[in-house]
Amino acid sequence: MSHVLILGGDGYLGWPTALYFSERGYQVTVVDNYFRRNACTELDTGMLYPVPTLLERAEIWQKQTGREIKVVIADLADPERMRGLFDGSLQYDWALDKAFTGIAQTIVHYAEQPSAPYSLLDYKHADITLSNNLRVTNNLLWAVRDFARDSHIIKLGTMGEYGTPDIDIEEGWLEIEHKGRKDKFLFPRQAGSLYHTTKVMDTDLMWFGVRMWNLRVTDLMQGPVYGIETEESRIDDRLNTIFNYDEIFGTIVNRFITQAVIGYPLTVYGAGGQTRGYLNIKDTLQCVHMSELTPAESGELRIFNQIMETFSVNQLAEMTQRVGVSRGLEVEIKSIENPRKEAEEHYYNPTYQGLQAIGVKPNYLTDEVMNSMFDIVERYRDNIREDVIFKGVKWG
Ligand SMILES: NC(=O)c1ccc[n+]([C@@H]2O[C@H](COP(=O)([O-])OP(=O)(O)OC[C@H]3O[C@@H](n4cnc5c(N)ncnc54)[C@H](O)[C@@H]3O)[C@@H](O)[C@H]2O)c1
Repeated sequence: MSHVLILGGDGYLGWPTALYFSERGYQVTVVDNYFRRNACTELDTGMLYPVPTLLERAEIWQKQTGREIKVVIADLADPERMRGLFDGSLQYDWALDKAFTGIAQTIVHYAEQPSAPYSLLDYKHADITLSNNLRVTNNLLWAVRDFARDSHIIKLGTMGEYGTPDIDIEEGWLEIEHKGRKDKFLFPRQAGSLYHTTKVMDTDLMWFGVRMWNLRVTDLMQGPVYGIETEESRIDDRLNTIFNYDEIFGTIVNRFITQAVIGYPLTVYGAGGQTRGYLNIKDTLQCVHMSELTPAESGELRIFNQIMETFSVNQLAEMTQRVGVSRGLEVEIKSIENPRKEAEEHYYNPTYQGLQAIGVKPNYLTDEVMNSMFDIVERYRDNIREDVIFKGVKWG
């Protein structure tokens, strides 16, 4: 039985990933320090429904399925905590028993501060983002170097690392011809926020670890994810993942659907031509699983662009409006002054065949998929807080 260690296992993507691997018979250990939940409390962001603690969720999962997910609560920005996951020194009542240490074949690294507006709230949140994200990645690389060199790291990066260049975006690498000579380099990156900048730096750190220590790394350049339910969470509402619809932690499709449900005009920033690649939460799980099944080689930094299709903000708003209206809702689209510094009309043509080539079968954003999300959000309509939807965190 293969052991998967999930860093950031309490998060929007981490928890469904844990259920997914556990359901498929893997030994699963999740680690988290509740950074995200604490940030939600600190910033008073609304959540669609309350979510049990990580330990409670693991218990619910075990009662429902008989399968065990091991839980460790630890701050991975602390190098000793990170190393304790590998050398057996991390001891909690409920934590890893020795048999689990040092043998995770796969480490899925989600444990970061994932929000662009959070990183630009003020100097303090910029500092938290930089130090948290870079330290976790650096600590992981050193722990794997020292204790588990053959383990495969699957790291979540972001398509935002590339920005919106005026050329096609390749999957991570670009061959460059210069003065008659050729070489392959990381695709040029130009992040649009401090959060995205930490992801660029993460990639550089991992590339260093791969070159120096022959680590095996897959870096998944993911687009914004949408969705709530996965096959595994369906069996019990309490297994549903954390769902934010606020400006800080909510992702756009999740936000638009929530706004439509309470009649809050869909907040299109500026001209609305900002185009990005998107994917269903179920596809995040597939992408990580397929990457796990086909690990990077020792000394390889393998990069995939993890998106299934592209949309402009206007297209997403129009789709949400169409589906909302078909359900009898009144849905208005409103262009508001863009608080971000970004191109509102631009060229965007990323390559994203790699993951499908290793077996991922895309779930596209159809009216049916949107309707199923509306069904869930409407169940919790009374919990939705209008005051957290838009606060206008400014880039400038
Ligand atoms: N959700 C998206 O649309 C999206 C898109 C692209 C990339 N990503 C990336 O995917 C990853 C997961 O994203 P998410 O949406 O699940 O975010 P999330 O905030 O829900 O999950 C991250 C988890 O990591 C934990 N964490 C953070 N710092 C930690 C630390 N120092 N020690 C231990 N745990 C820590 C948090 O508490 C949280 O539970 C992130 O790296 C994010 O940058 C997400």
